[in-house]
Amino acid sequence: MNSNCSKPLDGKDKNKYYYLVNLGCQMNEHDSEIICAILENIGYLTAKSAEEADLIMVNTCAVRKKPEDKVASLLGKYKILKDEKPGLIIAVGGCMTQQEDTAAYLRKRFHHVNLIFGTHALPRLPELILKAESSNKTIVDIEEDYADREGLPVLHSSSFKAWLPVIYGCNNYCSYCIVPFVRGRERSRSYNSIISEAKLLAEKGYLEITLLGQNVNSYGNDLPGSCHFADLLNGIDRISGIKRIRFMTSHPKDLSLELIQAVKEGDNVCEHFHLPVQSGSNNILKIMNRRYTREHYLELINQIREMIPGVSITSDIIVGFPGESETDFRDTLDLLKTARFDNAFSFLYSPRSNTRAAAFADQLSHAEKEERLERLNEVQHSISIEVNQSLKNKVLEVLVEGPSKNNDSMQTGRTRTNKLVHFPGPSALTGRLVMVKITEAKTWHLTGELEGEIS
Ligand code: SAH
Ligand code: SF4
Ligand code: F3S
Repeated sequence: MNSNCSKPLDGKDKNKYYYLVNLGCQMNEHDSEIICAILENIGYLTAKSAEEADLIMVNTCAVRKKPEDKVASLLGKYKILKDEKPGLIIAVGGCMTQQEDTAAYLRKRFHHVNLIFGTHALPRLPELILKAESSNKTIVDIEEDYADREGLPVLHSSSFKAWLPVIYGCNNYCSYCIVPFVRGRERSRSYNSIISEAKLLAEKGYLEITLLGQNVNSYGNDLPGSCHFADLLNGIDRISGIKRIRFMTSHPKDLSLELIQAVKEGDNVCEHFHLPVQSGSNNILKIMNRRYTREHYLELINQIREMIPGVSITSDIIVGFPGESETDFRDTLDLLKTARFDNAFSFLYSPRSNTRAAAFADQLSHAEKEERLERLNEVQHSISIEVNQSLKNKVLEVLVEGPSKNNDSMQTGRTRTNKLVHFPGPSALTGRLVMVKITEAKTWHLTGELEGEIS
């Protein structure tokens, strides 16, 4: 007897689940939000773990060796899952796979990978997945074709803060960096499409937007007319509903007075600059191809602080660049002491194939780099804690992100200056703007007491 209620047992009707791992920066995280939306559009649902998934997606990063090594270890682990479940689809995308030699290596070493795609392939992802599902060969798409990304779906990972890319790629070719090779040349999105997306986010109730680009200061250089990043900030600042506008990253070589002015005057533009200096030595800055001097950099941050009281400035530092002498390194320590960053993210120099610095003589040993990193962190940590101590007893605006990882009764959020704050309070505050009185300050976070909610 036929029954309309009986489900076919051939598996066609069965839900398919995906599991995504992201290994890269904010731009990669945003790409992952697009990947998730594409997967859901073609019928996949999220799995809680790799073990439960029918498709595993790894979005890779090539900026240093560490995230690259992680890919090999994950793919080794997923081989075991695939042996148990031969229908499992494994897809690897992102910056690492955009490089021809790496894509070829992954293909050779990990036969169980079904799909390898680069950063330019996102618009073609639906077809690529369908192909991977029905083929027993590895599908590869690492074409550098600058396909149009406008209109791709996005599954935002938060309901109150969102990434918003404004410029893709990078033309700067810092001598150590792989990004220009894997993200291609600079392409600014049109002013109107960015503004429309920001308005749509505001209508959906998003309070915070972070404008993304490898170098947001280049925004508009490739567009007709004369629209620059400061104009974009001013435009987004006028959209009602958006309470916080962040941006990253700014390159010190072309940070303009107009941009500092836009941060100062914009009601909703957050008082925070992430302004990577990379080194405090003019010799090293030169061979890094950063195109500014330490003097120019220090002048710039003085100007920012003069114009915007209470601003926070964070930075990135590379330790152990080829040829970095003890004197060069001391110049960096000295710059940290003068600049007094709120925080600095420090990295061991990691040679990247195809970049100029990888071929430089005088590569430092791992031990030398480690030793310098430790000294650098010691200096920066003591500065960070002092800067944070000065916020004690101040009442600051915090956007609540949710309960803290280890303690449900503590909420976690960020100040406008991007400082992490923990305070006791109910989880119902998630996604709300509150005022918190700071009672304690540590290197990486502040602790406080809830003073009230902002209506
Ligand atoms: N576009 C941003 C940085 C993107 S990469 C900018 O120009 O500031 C993020 C950080 O990674 C860089 O600021 C740099 O400090 C670090 N980085 C990039 N390449 C690196 C390498 N080969 N080794 C170590 N750190 C690196
Ligand atoms: Fe890399 Fe330099 Fe471009 Fe930043 S500006 S992405 S460090 S090449
Ligand atoms: Fe980002 Fe890593 Fe690519 S830092 S742009 S994901 S190489």
